Amino acid sequence: MTPVRDRLRVAIQKNGRLSEPARALLASCGLSWRESPDKLFCYGESAPVDLLLVRDDDIPGLIASGLCDLGVVGRNVLGEQMSDLRAANRDASVSELRALGFGGCKLSIAVPNDWTWTGPAMLSGKRLATSYPALLRDWLDANNVQADIVELSGSVEIAPRLGQADAICDLVSSGATLAANQLKPVEDILQSEAVLAGPVRDFDPALAGIAEMLLRRLDGVMKIRD
Ligand code: PRP
Ligand code: ZN
Ligand code: MG
Repeated sequence: MTPVRDRLRVAIQKNGRLSEPARALLASCGLSWRESPDKLFCYGESAPVDLLLVRDDDIPGLIASGLCDLGVVGRNVLGEQMSDLRAANRDASVSELRALGFGGCKLSIAVPNDWTWTGPAMLSGKRLATSYPALLRDWLDANNVQADIVELSGSVEIAPRLGQADAICDLVSSGATLAANQLKPVEDILQSEAVLAGPVRDFDPALAGIAEMLLRRLDGVMKIRD
């Protein structure tokens, strides 16, 4: 059995676009840490709030299992895992508590530049490469489109050129990656940004007060940032 903790554990992305802004946001809530040499665990100094630095895809699972209490993760990652659970008829145990206003991007369908886009029906019978099969499946179903999903964990934009897929569904931020691969965005599936994720269930009594303190400070910081 996992021992009861009396320090809050917040998971953030180890390396990536959300790492620095996530840390900066938590720091502006008055938190500071003493870093361990391996930097995967940061011990909270000014408050009993520790950081765990992990792969973003692992964050929802860490919260669901109770190993972490909160996490900063893209809505795209959280949404994909929640949609995957729904498809398996399982209840999601993690939810979006707050939108954090950074890391904005879109999950979009992109097609080769030379296609003349006439609408989702164009994708019928086509192969779509993505790292977001559950969110893509939801969108295809909602649009009554039957297409094949080719699941890739990265470098999705190269799939059409390789002949591995006809089009893709991937995150678009500046649009530079699409342009470099002769692709253009045609439909947006999800408006994403960094979110604070937390459990659907109540916090353990020992942690509830700390979590409330952090949320209160976060709301204060977000109000000033607006
Ligand atoms: C995302 C996404 C695209 C790229 C889009 O990848 O998968 O490849 O960013 O950004 P742009 O529109 O500004 O070019 P990310 O950097 O998160 O890496 P990953 O795909 O390996 O997770
Ligand atoms: Zn990732
Ligand atoms: Mg990518």
